Amino acid sequence: MGRSTTALWLVLLIVTEIGESTWSPGGAAHGLRCEKLRTSVSRPHSVTVTEFGAVGDGVTLNTLAFQNAIFYLQSFANKGGAQLFVPAGRWLTGSFSLISHLTLSLDKDAVIVGSMESFEWPIIDPLPSYGRGRELPGGRHQSLIHGHNLTDVVITGQNGTIDGQGSVWWDWFNNHTLDYTRPHLIELMYSSEVIISNLTFKNSPFWAIHPVYCSHVLVQNVTILAPPDSPNTDGIDPDSSDNVCIEDCYISTGDDLISIKSGWDEYGISFGRPSTNITIHRIAGSTKSGAGIALGSEMSGGISEVKAEGLRLSNSLHGIRIKTSPGRGGYIRNVYLSDIVMDNVEFAIRITGEYGEHPDEKYNPATLPLINKITIRDVMGSNIRVAGLLEGIQGDSFNDICLSNVLLNVTLDHSPWECSDIEGYSNLVCPESCEPLRGEALKHSAACYLAEGLRPQDSDTEQPGMMVASL
Ligand SMILES: *[C@@H]1O[C@H](CO)[C@@H](O)[C@H](O)[C@H]1NC(C)=O
Ligand SMILES: *[C@@H]1O[C@H](CO)[C@@H](O)[C@H](O)[C@H]1NC(C)=O
Ligand SMILES: *[C@@H]1O[C@H](CO)[C@@H](O)[C@H](O)[C@H]1NC(C)=O
Ligand SMILES: *[C@@H]1O[C@H](CO)[C@@H](O)[C@H](O)[C@H]1NC(C)=O
Ligand SMILES: *[C@@H]1O[C@H](CO)[C@@H](O)[C@H](O)[C@H]1NC(C)=O
Ligand SMILES: *[C@@H]1O[C@H](CO)[C@@H](O)[C@H](O)[C@H]1NC(C)=O
Ligand SMILES: *[C@@H]1O[C@H](CO)[C@@H](O)[C@H](O)[C@H]1NC(C)=O
Repeated sequence: MGRSTTALWLVLLIVTEIGESTWSPGGAAHGLRCEKLRTSVSRPHSVTVTEFGAVGDGVTLNTLAFQNAIFYLQSFANKGGAQLFVPAGRWLTGSFSLISHLTLSLDKDAVIVGSMESFEWPIIDPLPSYGRGRELPGGRHQSLIHGHNLTDVVITGQNGTIDGQGSVWWDWFNNHTLDYTRPHLIELMYSSEVIISNLTFKNSPFWAIHPVYCSHVLVQNVTILAPPDSPNTDGIDPDSSDNVCIEDCYISTGDDLISIKSGWDEYGISFGRPSTNITIHRIAGSTKSGAGIALGSEMSGGISEVKAEGLRLSNSLHGIRIKTSPGRGGYIRNVYLSDIVMDNVEFAIRITGEYGEHPDEKYNPATLPLINKITIRDVMGSNIRVAGLLEGIQGDSFNDICLSNVLLNVTLDHSPWECSDIEGYSNLVCPESCEPLRGEALKHSAACYLAEGLRPQDSDTEQPGMMVASL
């Protein structure tokens, strides 16, 4: 970086402080407030999984013990619900299903360990919004911990662990010996009032936490770990779900840390359930082949009203990523991402309009996604290779892409920003943004999505920078 650039950098840093107050407009509307989801649930009844014959030796298969315990607890559903307690130990199990009004609570040194036999993870129907398994036609393996049509479910612990032993699945995937799509660690379908907290998730066969067709979901204070080269081990993927809050998580996996989705091509379009009101606070981690926060590529039911604040990312491929494709239909709009600090990231921001990947040949390539009102602000990056590779779709440009106060120390000197079929505005961007984004953002504040109703909520946003130390 030359001397004059360094000087500009300093000036920008100072101007930033001033620019801050002029950017946010007035207005009192608020979006999803996470605290509404942070209700404490106490269960009048509790049983321990050992009462149902479970053995925590890491060898005995406990699927029946979990199933029997949960079957027994059904009788408490209308009496305030019940808790299933898992004490310290290694509890090997196949897939089991939860019920409503249940708390699954792990002790500090409790580890629920997924079986390495694929038949212990039964085959279930594909998701209607995907039309088939994500990886292979037909059904898919059921998640280790599964739920369908539930309400009032808590999965928590004193940092107990849910370990999927995913390495066998990654091998089967890599050597093409699977007949069905890999399972998640936790999948809840058609459920509401869900809390997943205070746990560590390790080595998921596929995406770790997958709420799909859900409402009012809180994921808080969880650690999700998988090796950097493990295939598609996304952390948390809210899918066709609304009013989801994800807070205070450390995620380091082989793919996107958080990916917001809503179904795939013609199946997602006809299912028509969007992901909306998604709030993300304070996420730290790294991913060698994914993004810190991704939207898509499956987004055919639409994605809107997304607010993410406080991302701390290091040693990663992408910071922010939007993925879509002709044939997807749907939309991604009203997205507000702010307070992002990255170090050693290849692409700080990447938008890909031609991501490809279709469920079958029945999609209509003329069904184009609509992408607009994406605001990315208050971003600091060091050791960034490419500032932005922003590619819309020819004849379907992505509009009102707004960058404000984006300061990136880019190592690749020529064309730090590459833009095609992208339109929007910018304000305090260094290095200077690409030509199509040079409109003055402040003059177009109506076009820039300022998270009206999603702006930082003073009472709901704790101190930013809490996780800086983990970088
Ligand atoms: C999103 O949040 C707003 C504000 O809390 C609420 O009015 C709206 O109904 C929510 N949308 C959905 C689909 O729940
Ligand atoms: C979920 O609820 C729907 C509608 O009430 C019902 O058709 C379906 O069988 C239920 N599924 C399960 C697994 O309970
Ligand atoms: C996070 O979980 C750990 C145990 O896993 C606990 O000690 C800590 O207090 C929790 N923090 C919050 C904010 O809930
Ligand atoms: C929980 O355990 C994980 C894995 O051992 C660890 O990385 C993390 O720091 C722990 N979290 C807390 C809050 O103690
Ligand atoms: C695929 O991986 C599995 C798990 O490691 C192994 O048992 C199997 O022999 C491998 N198959 C081939 C064809 O390499
Ligand atoms: C998570 O742990 C913290 C600290 O122990 C506790 O205050 C909080 O209630 C726990 N969350 C849940 C949902 O149990
Ligand atoms: C940007 O990188 C250069 C060269 O590595 C370094 O000298 C400079 O201090 C960095 N600036 C910031 C603001 O990180």
